[in-house]
Amino acid sequence: MTFFQWGEIYESGNEIIDNDHKVLLRLINDLYLEMARGDGKEIVNSTLDQLVDYSKNHFRREEMLMKSIDYPYFEEHETQHDAFIAMISKFLKRTNSDSITLDMANFLKNWLSNHILVSDKKFAYHLELKNITKQLPDK
Ligand SMILES: [Fe+2]
Repeated sequence: MTFFQWGEIYESGNEIIDNDHKVLLRLINDLYLEMARGDGKEIVNSTLDQLVDYSKNHFRREEMLMKSIDYPYFEEHETQHDAFIAMISKFLKRTNSDSITLDMANFLKNWLSNHILVSDKKFAYHLELKNITKQLPDK
């Protein structure tokens, strides 16, 4: 069974965002497998590094899209992104000193699942509305 299974429920209606989210899910699944297998710190940290890098790039893409439509909830959304990066960075430090647990994978899964279902869907809805408005012919 896949730890973090992609499903229709996560679709935002925006292909760029959805493709990014699928990569994030894959990285979290990789982390889960590595931890379940008891892989060493180096392997786990390398995947965590990839997760940080990809998350940063993905968040930047989302935030640029938000700015392009003057998204009214930009700041609260950006704060969530920053908190996620800060949290993974903390995990990275922890893996260097203590033993890591599956709690980390569960936390990442729950955070991302909730963020996609609530905050990203809210944004995707606004994005779709703006695009529809843009496509309407002028009076
Ligand atoms: Fe987001």
